[in-house]
Parts: sequence; C-alpha cells; structure tokens
Amino acid sequence: MDSNVTMEKIVSLAKRRGFVFQSSEIYGGQSGAWDYGPMGIELKNRIQRFWWKEMTQLHDDIVGLDAAILMHPRVWEASGHVENFTDPLVDCKKCKQRFRADQIDQAKLARRECPECGGELTDTRKFNLMFKTNIGPVDDGTGLIYLRPETAQGIYVNYKNIIQSNRMKIPFGIAQVGKAFRNEIVTKNFIFRTCEFEQMEMQYFVKPGEDEKFFNYWREQRWLYYEKLGVRMSKLRWHQHGPDELAHYAKDAYDIEYEFPMGFKELEGVHNRTNYDLSRHQQFSGKDLQYIDQENGNERFIPFIIETSAGLTRQLLMVLCDAYEDQKVADKGNEDDWRTVLHFHPTLAPVTVAVLPLMKKDGLAELAQDIRQSLKDEFSTDYDQGGAIGRRYRRQDEIGTPFCVTVDYQTKEDGTVTVRFRDSMEQVRVHRDQLESSLKQAIKDFKRS
Ligand code: GAP
Repeated sequence: MDSNVTMEKIVSLAKRRGFVFQSSEIYGGQSGAWDYGPMGIELKNRIQRFWWKEMTQLHDDIVGLDAAILMHPRVWEASGHVENFTDPLVDCKKCKQRFRADQIDQAKLARRECPECGGELTDTRKFNLMFKTNIGPVDDGTGLIYLRPETAQGIYVNYKNIIQSNRMKIPFGIAQVGKAFRNEIVTKNFIFRTCEFEQMEMQYFVKPGEDEKFFNYWREQRWLYYEKLGVRMSKLRWHQHGPDELAHYAKDAYDIEYEFPMGFKELEGVHNRTNYDLSRHQQFSGKDLQYIDQENGNERFIPFIIETSAGLTRQLLMVLCDAYEDQKVADKGNEDDWRTVLHFHPTLAPVTVAVLPLMKKDGLAELAQDIRQSLKDEFSTDYDQGGAIGRRYRRQDEIGTPFCVTVDYQTKEDGTVTVRFRDSMEQVRVHRDQLESSLKQAIKDFKRS
C-alpha cells in the first residue's frame, strides 16, 4: 500500500469529516486541547472498548476501576511527581520563545544560543508538568490540588480495597481508562502530545522475583494487541529505555513506537515499576500496604508492579494515520481518479454499514430506510440519499465505512441488495435476509489489504 499520509492531510480530514476539532476554535483555539466530533467519539469509544475487552474480559485475573481525577495532594508527593515530574526548560531572552532543553541542539544549548533567533538563552530550570488548582472556597494555598498526570496512582491507592472486595490473589491486574493532564510546553503534532488526554493503563501486581517473567509476558501481550487491532505491524517497533530515559519509578521500560508521519514515536510503554509506588504510599499514608500470601504461610511482601500504559487519544491518531490512504482508482485525468480511504478494521470503524438508495423516488428511499432499520440493532449504520452514488461511496470511504449497501430497482423485485466493500471496491449481490449474517462473516474474515 502506498503510504502517502502527512499530518496536514490527517488534520484536514479529521476536521472535514468530524473526527477532531480544535478546542474553542471560535475564540482562536486553545492549545493543547482538542474536541472529538461525531466520528471521533465513535472511533475513540471503539478503541477504548477494544482495549477494555482485551485487558479485562480476556484476562480472568484483571478487574476494572474508575478512580477520581482529583486525589489527595499527598498522593503526588508519595508518587514522586511533585519532586520529579519535570521538564528542563530554557527561554530566549530576545524572541521570548520557550524550549525543552533536552529537545534542542545540545551544542547551541551549551553556548546558550537560541535555536530560532540566535539570542541568549536563560539558565535551564525545572518545570513541573502537573496542573495545580484549588479546592474549596478560599484560594490561599490550603486547598491545593492537582489534576492527575497519570491514571496509575488511582489504581495504587485502591489496591487494598480491590483485594478485599474482590478476593484477588497475586498475580492480578487492575485496568483503568481516564483523563490525564500535563502542562506540556511543546504540543505540536496535532493530538500526539496534548495537555488533556486519555490513558488506558493496567497495573499488574506480582510477587517480587516474578517481575521479570511478567514484564516479558506483558510485552508479548501488548505486541499481540496491535496485531489484533489490525494495524500494520511493519510500522511498529520496540524501544528500550536507556538509563537516562528511565522514569524515576522504573527498573526497566520498553516503549512500543509507531512510525507516525513525523517519524517513529512512542505509542505506549510497558514498565517494571518495582515496589516503588506501593512502598512510597505505605510510607506516606502510614497504612500497611503489604500483601499477605495466605497460600504461602501468610508471607508478607510489597508487590512489584508491571504497568502497561497506553494513550487512548494517541492511539486514535495512530489508527487514523495507519488507515489513511490516497488511492488512485481510475485513469481519466480528473480528480475522480483518486479517493481518500480509511482502511479501519471494521470493529473500529465509526460507521459499519451505510445504506444508500440508488434513487430517492419510486419507493427506494423507504425501502432503504427499512433495510437500515433492520440492521440497526447489530451494526452502527448511516443513511445517505444525497448525490451521485459514486460520490456517496467516496464520502463513506473517507470515514472508513467498510460496507455500503445499495438499494435499487432489483431490490424491489427480488429483495437483493448490492454490498460494496470499501477496500477492494468489489460489489456482490446479497438477499436482504442474508445481509446481517454475510456482513458479520465479512467482519470476521477481514484482513487488512
Ligand atoms: N503511568 C505511566 C505513564 O503515564 P508515560 O510514558 O508518561 O507513562 C504513557 O505515558 C502513555 O500516555 C504514552 O505512551 C502516551 O501514549 C500517553 N501520553 C503521555 N503523555 C501524553 C500527552 N501529553 N498527550 C497525549 N498522550 C500522552
């Protein structure tokens, strides 16, 4: 497949077809924040459901949680975020631009030279990425509270509750999807790095000494997940964190990277967080967070944690980039020679089936509506009766609808419809009584072309 995707094309399609809009656009936009339109929310929900099924339904030893975004401020002292969750920043005294010191030319940084205008740079200073706000009526610092920068801590502080309420035995995991907030200074590349985003995290609690075994197991599992998601595996690779990249809590960490239009970038991380988090919460809260292993003579220990941490909104960007193709489909020398198509896996596509009457008249529209109605229970559907049929197919291709069902005069006679497949553009005639089962079969048999 010809990969001709650029970030400009993705941004433009995302807006044009209702996937992603700039936040507060009519006021000039809010940097670091994006809104998900009708197609975007469907795609995001489907990715989330896919992840949730994979991590909970298909793993007997993982349960879910939805912890609050606002947590006790001591959580972030214990977790090390107050002290360590910082980016090194420099400002240019001349052009006033701000840079991450680790992301600019290191020779220029050493000479304190601005990479943009050559002006003088300030000293490097640490900038904490957590958003602070205030809870309660008085804004005098006593109500300081943070917007969580990761969902993980909500899991750690509930680990004992979950052991007790659900009789979990080690090894076991807790999965959570939710918003996280970081005061990112560089927020270019569309929704790749934003100040408000969503994470899909799973924390797996294991006996010390078994951490490396489960670390490798979860690396394998997370790789297989992307195969199931139907993205091109040739676009993925592993990156092991070097000693200078490891987060303050990690003993070992690997990122799965995807080749975005701007190059290979982190998609998700698998981290061996050791017993750092629970030990710190035990110390800061004064509560006993040891696990009591009843099957082994009530042995007590602080579990090690293997974390799989994926960005939901970043995964949505990856799925969009991976699906995108400008494809030449004819050779007539006009713009109709090309189509833009999103090759989503059918389980991710915002619309699974579009029903299109060939004409509005002669009862075809009513018949098509009736067929759509019969599919609604099982599939997410769309109905479009406006314009030439070729144009309507192209509109559906642009939002990645895998199947179009066309209702024509023959349908009135013998009850058959045309099913048009997005990727091959092949068309087959199917009786409407067999439509649901043949679409389900096509979803099962789907292979990315
Ligand atoms: N709990 C561990 C943790 O948060 P991380 O590597 O900082 O680890 C995990 O983040 C994932 O969250 C990343 O791989 C990425 O997919 C997503 N992510 C992190 N910061 C993000 C941001 N500013 N915008 C969008 N996604 C982000």
